[in-house]
Amino acid sequence: MTYVVNDSCIKCKLMDCVSVCPVDCFYEGKNMLVIHPDECIDCGVCEPECPVEAIKPDTEPGLEEFLKLNAEYAKAWPNITVKRDPPPDHKEWEGKPDKLKLFDPEPGEGD
Ligand code: SF4
Ligand code: F3S
Repeated sequence: MTYVVNDSCIKCKLMDCVSVCPVDCFYEGKNMLVIHPDECIDCGVCEPECPVEAIKPDTEPGLEEFLKLNAEYAKAWPNITVKRDPPPDHKEWEGKPDKLKLFDPEPGEGD
């Protein structure tokens, strides 16, 4: 199994999760992060760190499209292990539903 970042992260991108991961398997896009499913060791440490509950174990139902998205973009985006400031308007996007349509496939800065 692996842990998966879902669309709650999009445009919130708080980055509290990256510093706790013991294997540094978060990757940064322009407006969200993803987890590399082959690198994640399923420790679960990151799940409670995300204030908007964007991180879920893949054993939860309904995560198929996010599993695919995490696997695909973890290969394309740069690694991130150090938290930076979230987007200035992150509060406005907290808890908004169906943010997948706002997904940006462009890479983020990385470390
Ligand atoms: Fe990293 Fe553990 Fe979260 Fe996987 S479950 S992304 S290994 S902190
Ligand atoms: Fe995203 Fe939550 Fe991490 S908003 S960047 S998964 S702390």
